[in-house]
Amino acid sequence: MTEQSPVTQEKSAKVPTLPDAQTVTEVKHYTDRLFSFRCTRPASLRFRSGEFVMIGLMGDADPKTGKQKPLLRAYSIASPAWDEEMEFYSIKVPDGPLTSRLQHIKPGDEIILRPKPVGTLVHDALIPGKRIWFFATGTGFAPFASLLREPQTYEDYDEIIITHTCRELGELTYGRDLIESIRNDEMLAELMGEGFADKIRYYPTTTREESPKMGRITDLIRSGELFEDLGIEPLNPDTDRAMICGNLAFNLELKELFEEAGLEEGANSKPAQYVVEKAFLD
Ligand SMILES: Cc1cc2nc3c(=O)[nH]c(=O)nc-3n(C[C@H](O)[C@H](O)[C@H](O)COP(=O)(O)OP(=O)(O)OC[C@H]3O[C@@H](n4cnc5c(N)ncnc54)[C@H](O)[C@@H]3O)c2cc1C
Ligand SMILES: NC(=O)c1ccc[n+]([C@@H]2O[C@H](COP(=O)([O-])OP(=O)(O)OC[C@H]3O[C@@H](n4cnc5c(N)ncnc54)[C@H](OP(=O)(O)O)[C@@H]3O)[C@@H](O)[C@H]2O)c1
Repeated sequence: MTEQSPVTQEKSAKVPTLPDAQTVTEVKHYTDRLFSFRCTRPASLRFRSGEFVMIGLMGDADPKTGKQKPLLRAYSIASPAWDEEMEFYSIKVPDGPLTSRLQHIKPGDEIILRPKPVGTLVHDALIPGKRIWFFATGTGFAPFASLLREPQTYEDYDEIIITHTCRELGELTYGRDLIESIRNDEMLAELMGEGFADKIRYYPTTTREESPKMGRITDLIRSGELFEDLGIEPLNPDTDRAMICGNLAFNLELKELFEEAGLEEGANSKPAQYVVEKAFLD
């Protein structure tokens, strides 16, 4: 392995050329806390849209041994299974061991990507239904950025409702732009049929900055406002399927609401009516 200088705050060092190194091809910054990037895809990597992998950078050298170890974190793959590149949507935690450094990556830099995809936010973990809900807070949008570009989503469901709740408007930009680009994507229209994107209902809300729709999605479900706004019936276990990805408290509140509505939690080994994954550990 080639010796490398340790990664610093100012500049992300190139990781040694490990078998798991991938090259960054594009980086976009949305706010001082959020960015997305694309990188090359390992030729042998197969994954199901909605799954996550471990990615990272080489850590600082151990002061005693001088050895560097990979610093890895779980990341939802934001790109669909058919994409020849990989996309990720990331937080920037100011003192976060990984993201305080990862936020400085540039095209041409290398990251580490362990090609072992896993996760519960996959179509295989749900039984057939008519309408699918994607419920996200913050970077929990990432797996849905993958699933919204997955042809199976449109083959399996008549209606796709994506709710995204963030504190501030700027934090909705990645999701809003992505949905806009799906609506205008000619290649996707050719693949999935003209008008496929008409199945998408996008329901963004903010909680701390003024916007057209304010409030936590959990409160909007309890009050019935969500269903009134969309002009649809409340959750029905016969027709509704859901995937949830947000902070722990959000996930737990939604689980409770789904169980009350009679929906059962699924898993890869036992498909059912809804599935949950944490957007981050706390
Ligand atoms: C299954 C799974 C999938 C994940 N997918 C993504 C993803 O697609 N994009 C992403 O940015 N992160 C994702 N994460 C979180 C990610 O693994 C790291 O925690 C994150 O990159 C920060 O790493 P860090 O080393 O800088 O800080 P850490 O030490 O990992 O985290 C420090 C603190 O920052 C906060 N935090 C961490 N991640 C987030 C986040 N995403 N949003 C808000 N606050 C956060 C928490 O309070 C945490 O305790 C995922 C986590 C899990 C378990
Ligand atoms: N986003 C920021 O601007 C910001 C800035 C500095 C630091 N941080 C820190 O970063 C961490 C993560 O922040 P984040 O904004 O990315 O994620 P977050 O705290 O999980 O909040 C994301 C969105 O989810 C909502 N939410 C939280 N708990 C919920 C629940 N139980 N049910 C329904 N909705 C719920 C929040 O509403 P509420 O607003 O009502 O909580 C917010 O709109 C936090 O520790 C925070 O202190 C965030």
